[in-house]
Amino acid sequence: MTQEAQHYLLNRADEACSLLKEHIKKDHVVRVISHNDSDGLSAAGVMCNAISKQGGKFHVTIVPRLKEEFVRKLRNERYKLFVFCDMGSAYPDLISKLKADSIIADHHQVLGDHDKEYENLVHVNPHLFGMDGTRDVSASGVSYLTVRGMDNVELTGLALVGAYGDMQCSEEIIGVNKMMLDEGLNAGVIEEHEDLKITYKKEEPLYKALSYTFNPALKGISGDPEGTKAFLEERGLSYGIKFDDLAEEEKDLLKEELMKITPKIFDKVYSIPRETPVLRNIEDYSRILDACGKNKKYGVGLSICIGERENALEEGIGFAKKYRDSLVKGINWIKKEGSVHLDNIQYIYTEDKSRKSLMGTISSIGLELEILDPNKPVIAISKMDNIIKVSGRTSMELIRKGVNLGYALGEAAKSFNGAGGGHNIAAGAVVPFKDMDNFTDIVDEIVGTQIRQ
Ligand code: C5P
Ligand code: C5P
Ligand code: C5P
Repeated sequence: MTQEAQHYLLNRADEACSLLKEHIKKDHVVRVISHNDSDGLSAAGVMCNAISKQGGKFHVTIVPRLKEEFVRKLRNERYKLFVFCDMGSAYPDLISKLKADSIIADHHQVLGDHDKEYENLVHVNPHLFGMDGTRDVSASGVSYLTVRGMDNVELTGLALVGAYGDMQCSEEIIGVNKMMLDEGLNAGVIEEHEDLKITYKKEEPLYKALSYTFNPALKGISGDPEGTKAFLEERGLSYGIKFDDLAEEEKDLLKEELMKITPKIFDKVYSIPRETPVLRNIEDYSRILDACGKNKKYGVGLSICIGERENALEEGIGFAKKYRDSLVKGINWIKKEGSVHLDNIQYIYTEDKSRKSLMGTISSIGLELEILDPNKPVIAISKMDNIIKVSGRTSMELIRKGVNLGYALGEAAKSFNGAGGGHNIAAGAVVPFKDMDNFTDIVDEIVGTQIRQ
């Protein structure tokens, strides 16, 4: 990312900020629409917190994805400003037809004309300026840039929650994410320390905590409580006690052994010191929001972000607990079933509704653990009545070879009157069930072409 691109993005975000301020000043209720995952929920949180701080009002709705039909219905609403977070970049033309002003604060790939200008719409998206919406900034970050001009440095922590939720911080933090991190660190609203990144190490017995650790993925351990017990026993470490109860030399041994699997296990950890303890660690915060999204309890996630936490926090923690067990089950399912191989892609298929929302996540973890072939993108298919919901996931290595799943799924879905898109590394689509085989064949072909180019 060049400094110049970032400069243009910040200018565009400032334009959006002026528009937002103007409407807040006129006492207009801001209509916020956002996505149902951790990034979308924190993006809405950033936006709503900033509006409240200015004494403004908002009406927010969280949706699983933006459908044309939904945008059309918004025409009947009498709001003067619509703000679309983590979505909207696929429909700027349609959104510009709302009889109101709009802001799109998105980070998905923009299909179509990047330079088109609209009178009543400010489109903020890193891709418009040649930046990477998968690594440089997520929707919560784009939302933060949009309210940055109203002095909101305390929201940098929440903006990074979304970046973690979208897996943008698994490698070195770069781009706008780094800029926000530095702003937060300098202002003392984010803190940094180095630690063993074992998830739930304070809450769960060691073998469970390790088997619940997916970021980084630990081969032979993540998603495998029995394998983890064996790993610990072989090294003479007690598996049933909590990490904190290990002797110092046991902690050192564990660290050394885990570092042999991946050095990423000992890394920088960021926290929001002013937050309530369970949300202080930014990654834990993102996991709780993610679980709210996966449980379709968007209101709970949103309440957590905007500080109305009376029961929400406890509920969110409960969802996160349930969710990690579902991930372990999902990973075991992949281990048992394996994937179907085409020339350039592999796919997994389920009719089990409880697995539907996990398919993308377990595909990506499956690739990292190499229980799926790491050399081919995974297309995860869930059958729902007469349609299939598709999630695609791939690796950085395949991206470097030319794979772009957002384009592949978007193009392939179009052939069957479906809709699709997303990022190069993670994308999705919905297509009719009857076209499933033709759809996977076309995706296979497109990915083949992308790799050969
Ligand atoms: O559903 P999605 O793919 O967005 O899942 C993102 C979440 O899944 C992350 O926030 C993280 O909690 C978890 N995950 C992970 N390691 C991976 C993939 C996903 O921890 N390799
Ligand atoms: O809808 P949205 O853009 O927020 O989702 C992005 C998806 O991309 C998430 O599911 C996230 O986990 C996935 N992702 C990934 N690996 C990355 C970056 C993002 O699987 N390196
Ligand atoms: O649903 P899933 O988590 O697999 O979506 C991965 C990415 O693809 C997300 O960024 C999502 O917003 C995007 N997507 C899309 N169009 C769809 C389905 C998903 O752009 N029809």
